[in-house]
Amino acid sequence: MRGGRTVERLDKRLAATGRWSRKEAKELIRSGRVTVDDQVCRVPEEKVADGARVQVDGAALEGTGPVYLMLNKPAGLVSATEDPRQPTVLCLLPERYRRLGLFPAGRLDKDTEGLLLLTNDGPLAHRLLSPRFHVDKVYYLEVDGVLEPSDCRAVEQGMELADGTVCRPGVLEILPGGRAARLTIREGKYHQVKRMMAARGKPVTYLKRVAFGPLKLDETLPGGGWRALTEEEIQALFRQ
Ligand code: URA
Repeated sequence: MRGGRTVERLDKRLAATGRWSRKEAKELIRSGRVTVDDQVCRVPEEKVADGARVQVDGAALEGTGPVYLMLNKPAGLVSATEDPRQPTVLCLLPERYRRLGLFPAGRLDKDTEGLLLLTNDGPLAHRLLSPRFHVDKVYYLEVDGVLEPSDCRAVEQGMELADGTVCRPGVLEILPGGRAARLTIREGKYHQVKRMMAARGKPVTYLKRVAFGPLKLDETLPGGGWRALTEEEIQALFRQ
């Protein structure tokens, strides 16, 4: 063991950067190209402390910190890290990002589009998804039917779904024509938006999340496009 606090194996630390697979990391270490606190280490299983200075070919490791990505999810992908039968949102990322342990913070249904935060920061995701922290989620939706002021009042009062589940109050803003709206809710119950509109007799025909807490969907991202969050966006999430 090197350094003070043991945190992880050397090969795992290298693989966590996304630059190498675990197998490639092992080969790199065995070939003598990796140093820990200036000493060559050829043992992939070596435990290294988080403060230890790890270098590959003399260059410090980069990219081991948490990663925050905004994805414009297209329909047809599931919000999961793996699925035996269906493609997941992680399929949209290049290989090196897929090795970073990223997961979607929250779920969108397979046919729902829009803003999805992908991160490997477990504590932050946990906080953002906790009902205690009241993160606003804003959806653009289209329905089969015509929305009316009575629908807005029902949403504001806290709707009861078909199975008796009671939702917290939300805000429904009807868009011109009455067939589309923006809905703001603070919960994330299973199929919540679809079930809310179904309870009003106006089933959702299209659904897209346009905001998640302080994050607004970057409209320049095409469906399936993604980008790293800016420093300001990350800070805003932490202030949430
Ligand atoms: N509510 C839904 O019904 N589906 C989603 O994907 C998100 C919220």
